[in-house]
Amino acid sequence: DETSTADIRDSRDICKVMKAHKKNFLVLYASQTGTAEDYAKQFAKELTAKFSLSVLCTDVENYNFESLHQLPPHVVVSLFISTYGEGEFPDSALQFEKFLSAISEGGLSGLNVTLFGFGNSTYEFYNGASKKVMEHLKRSHATLIGNHDLADDGTHTTDEDYLAWKENTLQALKKQLRLNEHEQKYEPFFEVEKIDAMRENISLGEPSLAYLQPITHSFSSINIQLGPFGLNQPYVAPIVKSRELFEDTDRSCVHSEFDISGSDMQYTTGDHLGVWPSNADEKVNKFLYAFNLDPGIIFDLKPLDSTIEKPFPTPTTIGAAVRHYMEITGPISRQSFGSLVQFAPNDQVREKLQELAADKDQFSIEITSKCFDLADALLYLSGGSKWEAVPWEFLVETVPHLQPRYYSISSSSLSEEHTIHITSVVETFPSPTGDGNVVGVTTNLLKNIEVVQNKKNIEDLDVHFDLRGPRDIFSGFKLPIHVRHSSFKLPLDPQKPIIMIGPGTGVAPFRGFIRERVQAMKTQRGMKLGKHLLFYGCRNYGDYLYKEEWPEYAKKLGSSFEMIVAHSRMTSKKIYVQDKLLEREAEVFSLIEAGGFLYVCGEAKGMAQGVNAVMVDIFSRRKSISKEQAAEMLSVLKVSDRYQEDVW
Ligand code: 2AM
Repeated sequence: DETSTADIRDSRDICKVMKAHKKNFLVLYASQTGTAEDYAKQFAKELTAKFSLSVLCTDVENYNFESLHQLPPHVVVSLFISTYGEGEFPDSALQFEKFLSAISEGGLSGLNVTLFGFGNSTYEFYNGASKKVMEHLKRSHATLIGNHDLADDGTHTTDEDYLAWKENTLQALKKQLRLNEHEQKYEPFFEVEKIDAMRENISLGEPSLAYLQPITHSFSSINIQLGPFGLNQPYVAPIVKSRELFEDTDRSCVHSEFDISGSDMQYTTGDHLGVWPSNADEKVNKFLYAFNLDPGIIFDLKPLDSTIEKPFPTPTTIGAAVRHYMEITGPISRQSFGSLVQFAPNDQVREKLQELAADKDQFSIEITSKCFDLADALLYLSGGSKWEAVPWEFLVETVPHLQPRYYSISSSSLSEEHTIHITSVVETFPSPTGDGNVVGVTTNLLKNIEVVQNKKNIEDLDVHFDLRGPRDIFSGFKLPIHVRHSSFKLPLDPQKPIIMIGPGTGVAPFRGFIRERVQAMKTQRGMKLGKHLLFYGCRNYGDYLYKEEWPEYAKKLGSSFEMIVAHSRMTSKKIYVQDKLLEREAEVFSLIEAGGFLYVCGEAKGMAQGVNAVMVDIFSRRKSISKEQAAEMLSVLKVSDRYQEDVW
C-alpha cells in the first residue's frame, strides 16, 4: 500500500532498503574528489554486467548502517574508502566513521566484506582512512574476502592498483558466492527519456538547481542566488580583476580576484578555493563528434529504482551535460577503456581495443604516454570512425563528473574580507602526438577570462571557453566557486616566529599570511611581530611572482619580515629553497627552538619531501642526534601543528 512504500522510500535503514529493492550486493564509497566514487560505480556496473547481481551502490553519507549486521550472509559489502588530508576520512564519511568506531567487538561477525583504499604515498598517514576501516572490521570480526589493497596516487598507479585488486577480489567472490560469469552485458541504471520541446525548468548546466527557481517580486522577476553556499551549492562569483603575473613559452601565471560580497561565504587566510570549470568548445565538439551526439537533444534520466542517484540535474541537453557536468578531458583509465569493447564500430577495432585493455604496458605506450583523452583515444583506435553504438546512458554512467579544482587562497581575510585571490599557473606543453598543446581545464579557463577581460588577443589561446555560460549566468566574467576550509593557519600570537617555504605558486598562501600581518600592523598600533622568514623559489626574475609587492610589505613590516629567494636557472648551478634553508641553518633552527612555526606549500614529492629531508639534517646536526630521532622530532612538530604542509 501507499504508506508503506513511502516509508521504505524514505527509510535510511540500509537493511530495509536492500530488502525492499531486492538487492543482493552492497557497494559503499567514501569519496572526497570523486575517485573512490568512480571506481565504486565501475565495480558495481561490472558485478551487474558479468554476474547479474542486483547491486546497491551509494555514498556512505546516504544511509544509516546500524542494521548492517542483519544483512543476510549471501550479501557482500564492498567498501571503497578514500583518505583525505592527514589520514582523515572524506567529509561525507564522518557519520560512517562514528558508526564504525562504535561497533562492539564481534559486532559484525558473519558479515562478508571487501575493502579497497585510495590514497597517496607522498603524504604521511598514507591510506589512513582505509587502514582505520580495516582495524574496525577486524575488531568486529567481519570476514574479509580477497585482500585489503591500496591505490597509490603518488606513484600514479591508482588504475593499475585497482585492476589488480579487482582481478583477485572477483575470483574470491566467484568462489565464495558460487557466481556464474557470463559475457558482459550492459544493463543501464537509467532509462533515458527524450523530451520534445524546451521548457522553463530544463537545466542548461547551472551549477545547482537553485538557479532554476527565479524569485518573483511584485515589480520584477530576478534571479538571485540563495545560500548557504558550499560544495553542494557553489556561488557564481564575479571575477572583478584578473592579471597576468608572467608569461613564458612553456607556462604563464594568472592572478584572479573573486568578489564574494553577494554571498554568505566566508573564508579565513590559508583556506582553499574550489573553482568549478566547464569544458572548452574544442573538447566538447570533439567528444560530441566521437560519439556522434546531437548537443540539442533534451533528455531526462529516470533511475530504474529509487536507490539510484542521478549524476547531474535533469532534464538537460546533451550539449550542456557534456560541457558542464562530464569530465571529458584528462587521462583515461584502462578499466573504463575495457568496458567499451562491446560498442566497437567493427571487429578489427574491437580486437585492438581488447588487446590494449588487457595489456598494461601497451596501453601505457599507445594511450597514456600520448596524453590522449577519451575521444582522442577512441578516434585513434577506430582510425577516425565514430563510435555511434555507445549508448548515451552508458556515457552518463561511466564518464566521471566534472569536479571542482582547488587553489590555495593568496589573499587575507583580514585585508580582503569580501574578495578572494588565487594564483594559478598555466602550463603549456606540446602534445606528444604533435597536434597542439595539452591543456588543463580550469587554468586555461582562468587564462581565457584574463585575456578577454583585459582585451588581449584571443587568437593566441590554445582553447576557447563559453564565457557566458548557461542562460548567460557566467557572463560578465563569473565562475562558480566555494570555500574549503583548511587547517593551514598562522599562529594566533603574532610574536611567534614563522618560517614559510613556498617556491612557485606555493607562495600563494604566504602572500595571504603577509598581507594579514600588514593589515594587523595597520589596525593594532604598537603590535610586535616575531621574525617572518619567507623562502621563495623561482627560475629567474621573469617568473618572480608578485615581485613588485614584496618590497612594499617589507617597508610596512620592517626588519621582522625577510624574503630569501632561490633562483634555479640564473647560474649554471640549480639553487633551490632547500639550499637557502641550509645557508640559514643556524637561524632556522633557533627560530623553531624558540617556539616558531614552519610552513611548507607547493609540490609534494620533490619539494616538500626535499625540505623535510633538509630539516631532518638540520635537526640531527644541531642537536647531535640520529636522523631517525630528528625525523621523530619533526613528526611531533607536525602533530602539534607547528610544522604545517599545504602540498599537491
Ligand atoms: P626548476 O624548474 O628550475 O628545476 C618554482 O617552480 C621553482 O621551484 C623553480 O625554480 C623550480 O626549479 C623549483 N623546483 C623544482 N623542483 C624542485 C624541488 N624538488 N625542490 C625545490 N624546488 C624545486
